[in-house]
Order: sequence, then structure tokens, then C-alpha cells
Amino acid sequence: MNYFFKPRQVAVVGASANRGKVGNSVLRNIIGSGYSGTIVPINPSAHEIEGLKCYPNITEAVQELGALDLVVVAVPAAAVIGVAQECAKNGCKNLVVITAGFKEVGKEGAALEKELVEICRSHHINLLGPNCLGMMDTHTPINASFAGDFPLRGEIAFISQSGALGTAILNWSRQQKIGFSQFVSLGNKAGLNEADFIAAAADDPNTKVILCYLENVVDGERFMDVARQTSRRKPVIIFKAGTSEAGARAASSHTGALAGNDRTYETVFKQCGILRVRRMEDLFALATVFLSQPLPKGDRVAILTNAGGPGIIAADAVESRGLAMARFCAETIEAMRAHLPAEANLLNPVDVIGDARADRYHFALEQIIQDPNVDGLIILLTPQAVTQPKETAEAIVDVKERHPDKPIVAAFMGGEAVADGAEHLRKNGIPCFSFPEPAVESFAYLSRYTKLRESTARQALPEFDFDRRRITEIIKGAMSDHRRILFASEGAEVLSLMGIPAAPTKLATTADQAVEIALEIGFPVVMKLEAPNVLHKSDLGGVKLNLRTEQEVAEAYHEIIANLHHHLPDTVAYGVEVQKMDQPGRECIIGMTCDQAFGPLLMFGLGGIYVNLLQDVSFRVVRGLDLTELQEMIRETKAYLLLKGIRGEKPGDVEAVVDTLARVAVLAREFPQINEIDINPLFVYEQGVSAVDVKITLRKVGTE
Ligand code: COA
Repeated sequence: MNYFFKPRQVAVVGASANRGKVGNSVLRNIIGSGYSGTIVPINPSAHEIEGLKCYPNITEAVQELGALDLVVVAVPAAAVIGVAQECAKNGCKNLVVITAGFKEVGKEGAALEKELVEICRSHHINLLGPNCLGMMDTHTPINASFAGDFPLRGEIAFISQSGALGTAILNWSRQQKIGFSQFVSLGNKAGLNEADFIAAAADDPNTKVILCYLENVVDGERFMDVARQTSRRKPVIIFKAGTSEAGARAASSHTGALAGNDRTYETVFKQCGILRVRRMEDLFALATVFLSQPLPKGDRVAILTNAGGPGIIAADAVESRGLAMARFCAETIEAMRAHLPAEANLLNPVDVIGDARADRYHFALEQIIQDPNVDGLIILLTPQAVTQPKETAEAIVDVKERHPDKPIVAAFMGGEAVADGAEHLRKNGIPCFSFPEPAVESFAYLSRYTKLRESTARQALPEFDFDRRRITEIIKGAMSDHRRILFASEGAEVLSLMGIPAAPTKLATTADQAVEIALEIGFPVVMKLEAPNVLHKSDLGGVKLNLRTEQEVAEAYHEIIANLHHHLPDTVAYGVEVQKMDQPGRECIIGMTCDQAFGPLLMFGLGGIYVNLLQDVSFRVVRGLDLTELQEMIRETKAYLLLKGIRGEKPGDVEAVVDTLARVAVLAREFPQINEIDINPLFVYEQGVSAVDVKITLRKVGTE
């Protein structure tokens, strides 16, 4: 993509002399952006457009001028394929298709888009769009779009899945004096997608912060790889729209039902070090904070205020965002005591009280910022009779200039009275909010990002030995029986083969066989119906617990089959599972479900029958997963408190739970035919674990 943002020549196919047309806007935008390369309008019915020589087609332009680095297309959809073929023939490598009327309009459009993608793929052409606004780079500079505004030059790359939203933001950004390095409208993402542009922005020396507006991610695995690498170099901040669960997958497992679409994105973003914001405006507010402030060395915040209430609000926000209130050194407190009024509060939050003028803020700030126990400052101001917002802002800027290594974020509360001061701060690179919470929130993001960059040691999942051949055989056997759910006995065997302790389970097809199995695995046993399409076995008397004799086992077998016939006379049982009855332990759940975009997703939480109700679960995507993340996912749940032991209980074996999670992750990674796994409950003992109930569902992969 070397020449995508920095083309030496750019052609506009569909350039028009008619000023109302998109092709004309694109051409004039390129000219108007100050682009210094060769601009080539292409239109068969014109000789000159906007003062530039016009060519009838790409071929003639290339014959006369040589290669074209970038081609922007604004001709009707029916003509796009022809243009793409010409680009392919003439060695053009970057194509921006603005034209709409593809996948977004239905079947015919989708077929056209497929054809376009095939041409581009087979000729290694980078394709942006179709159905997009175009792209911009303010440093090249080039505005290859039909947007009405070219943004100010800046250090933010903005990647937007919505073109219309892009135009609104570009217009707003000029008013807000927010500058961009790159802007990309992704359109239908038929070729290049968010991952490509995040990677490009990561390598762009003019970009310091990457912002994305996304509705979905098309290539989940690549996205995760790129985001993981990029977020260590530059902050990647994403607003993801479409958080409702309307489109949540139809799931037959607890794990699938709990892993809603938004939860999956939340998990992915967290694992990849992406900072997610929940409001569009936070995207830009946060970008300016990242651009203007250094990263804090820790999470200890000092608050300076001239009013008690806002100080308390900020302190609450500090606590709720997981930050720490700084505890000042004795010297700092003493110095403040010597000069501040007796009524001032010298502990954090420092309250210089309502009659504070700029000099008092200046003095207190000077002391606090030098305190080694302070990693960053939140400065609050409310307009009271003698308050000097502008002069106070000047004092803040002065201190900041002399101590640039600690982040400062301000909240000047009020309207006209504080406007001058707030403006002065912003102009001088100090973010200023209207209320305390967003100021604290932005500091929390800075602090989170610091931690994220510092967390280096990754411990890959261990290599496990397992009998791949036998597991494959079990899966294939079920598939060839047209079963999408493994028998409980097969599930238990798969887990055992993976090295996960599972209660021994075997399928009996006669009462005598059930007795034999019970004798073999040892009493007491549990017996469970195995029949097609029976989800809630206990509801129809399909589960018998604590069977201690041969006679009880034989009777249970007959009873279970009779109950099935009574409730579902047309259903023929596969048999009855006979399972060793385990000692009860603390009940957890471990699950896995396959996400369409991101692949296997692992779940851990509180198990038992109330899983869906309590939803005490945490998730991790298997791709790139490490051992530390498995420990974290356990610690995120309340189940962890149970495992640690409450009210004098001995702790459960957390290490064994981590090991089980790791093995389930490897099972999911190595066998893509496994669609979902529910181990519920997983009994956790003081030493070891046992998978008591296992449900494994399968899916077709490739041509199987
Ligand atoms: N090569 C070169 N020029 C061609 C051509 C080709 N193969 N086919 C047509 N043209 C010329 C036309 O003659 C015309 O020039 P003219 O004004 O001198 O006659 C120009 O290209 C444009 O074609 P026209 O038929 O007038 O189309 P249009 O300008 O009305 O619409 C699009 C073209 C691309 C703007 C329209 O199809 C479209 O997709 N609009 C929506 C864009 C959009 O919303 N994108 C997503 C934003 S988020």
C-alpha cells in the first residue's frame, strides 16, 4: 500500500465538467487539497476538465503518462467492472471505488461486487470500497473523496465504516480545530478493510492516534493480530455501533447464549489492547487527550478544586474507574499548609476553596505536581465571585510547561464565565472538559493504556499431548450418524483424551449392559437418557441419581426408557448413559462457542442450573490466548471468590481450572468441527477438578 496514501499520479474515472456531479467533486477536491502529483481526469467525452487534460480511458492515459498509482472511480455501477479490468490490464495497484449499487442493494449488486473483488484479487489490486466516500491524507496532501470538507492537518487517523458519518465528523472537526492525518471511508469493505487501514496508520509516521467507527469486523482473526501489534505502538480507540443483541446467534449451549455479539467485541477489544468508547464524541475527546498528554507512570491521581462538591464527584469517579487517589508526601502537605488558608483541604482532593484566585491555584499546583506520589492531575474550577478562570488557565499552562512529564486534565465547570479559560487551556494543549467525570475517565484511559503497553511477558499456552486420531474418529463417527451433538459418553471420552478429568461415562443399550458398566466403573452411579432432540432430560424423568446396587441400576434403566415412551412415544432412545457419581465440589462452568468472525471463544464462570440467570461469566478469544489471560478471566468472576474459599472453606484448585481452560482452548483450536462445548458443572475440589456434565456440539467445516 506504499502508494495508496502517497500516490505519484492519481486518475479520476468519471471525472466530469459538471460541477454538480460526484466525479467533478472528487477531481476538484484533489486539486483543492494541494496535491502535487499528476492529476488525470478520465472521461471519453471531454478533452479538458477543470483545466486539466482529460483522457478517454485508463489505457490511453497510461500509454502517454506511464503508470497510475491510484485510480478513483465515480462512474455508474454497470461501468465499474470495465474500469477495473482496464486497471488490471494497465498495472494499476490502488483502486478507490466510490460508486454505490453493489452488495448493499441486493443479489445483483452482490454478484457485481464479487466480480470486482475477483479482478482485484487476481491482479493484486488494493480495493477500497465500493460504496465509499473515498480517502484523504492531509500530509501528502490528497483529498480523494467527494466530502465537502478537507480536515486540518493533524495526527489522528480516522477510519469510518459510515461515509455519511464521516462527512459530518470532517465538518465538525474543522470547527473544533481537530486535525487528521488520514481519513478513510471503508464502504462495503470488499477488498481492504479496517485491519488494513489500522496497519497502514500504525506505519504512518504522521499518525499518533488511530480512531475507528465500526459496525462490524470482517476478518476477525487478522483484525486481532493487527490490533494486538498496533495497540502496543499507538493507541487504537474504537466506537463500535450495533451493540444491540437483535442479531445474536441461535445457540444451543449456555456458552453460545451468553456470548452475545457485543460481549464478543468487548472481549476482542480488551484482549487486543483496543480502547473502546461508548459515545461518538468520546472518540475525539480521548484522541486529543492522547495527543496532548504524556502517559502517566501510574494510576495515582491528584485532584485540585475550588469547590467541595466537584471534588467529591471526581474522587468518586477515580474510585469507580479503578484509579487511585494519590497520598501526598509530608513535605507537600507542609508546604501547602504554610501558604494556603486554614480552611483549605490539604489532603486529596485539595480544595483551595471558593475565594481562590489564580495565584492560589498556581501555588498549590506547583506543590502537587512535584510530589513523587502523584502520577497525574485533574484540575477542577467553578466560577465563583472572585474566581479568575483565564488567569487560572494561564497558571496551569505555566506549571505544565515546566513539568511536562505528568498528564493534566481539567474540567472548568460553567458557561460563559469559564469559556475564556477553557479555550486558553485547549489552545495550549491541556484538555478541558465541562464536568469532572469525563476528565477522570480520560485519565483512566491514559492509565489503562500505560499498563497495556507495559504488560509484556506473555506465556503461551502449553503444548499438550493428546490422541488426535481417536478424537477425530469420535467426531467423524457422530457426523456420519448425522448427529450434531456428541453422546455424553463420547464427550467425556474427548475430554479425557485431552487430559481433562471427566467422570467415567458409558452408553448402555440394555439393562444388563447398564449393570455391567456400573460394576466396571463402580457404584454409586448416575444414569441419564440419551435420545435425539431431548434437551431437558430431567423434565421427563430421564435422570436417576445415586444408584447403589445392580438392581437399582436395572430398574432405573427400564424406568428411564418407559418415561421416554410415556412422554415422547415416537422417540427412540440411543440408550442410557451410566456415569460414575462424583463427590460434589464447587460448581463452575467452562464453555466454548465459535464466533463467525473471531473463531473459538472461551467462557468461565459460576456453574450449575442458574448459569443463565446469574451470568457470572467471563470470556476470552482463543486466538493468541495466553496463560495470564486465563488467570485473569477466572479472577474477573465471583466464582473466583468461591474458589478462593469463603467462611473458612478450603480453597479450590484454581490451577486445575486454569489447566482445564487451557486444554479446552487447545481442543477448540485443533478441532474446528467442534462448534460448542459446555462443561457444566465442572466440580472443583481442593485438589483437581472433574467434568461432570459435558455437551459438545459439532458443525460442518469445509467440504466435510
Ligand atoms: N469511463 C469514464 N467516464 C465515464 C465512464 C467510463 N467508463 N462511464 C461514464 N463516464 C462518465 C459519464 O459520461 C459522466 O461524465 P459527464 O458528466 O461528462 O457526462 C461521468 O462519468 C459520470 O457518469 P454519470 O452517468 O453522469 O453518473 P453520475 O455522476 O450521475 O453517478 C456515481 C455516478 C458514481 C456518482 C453514482 O453511480 C453513485 O454511485 N452515486 C452514489 C455514490 C455514493 O453515495 N457512494 C457512497 C458514499 S458513502
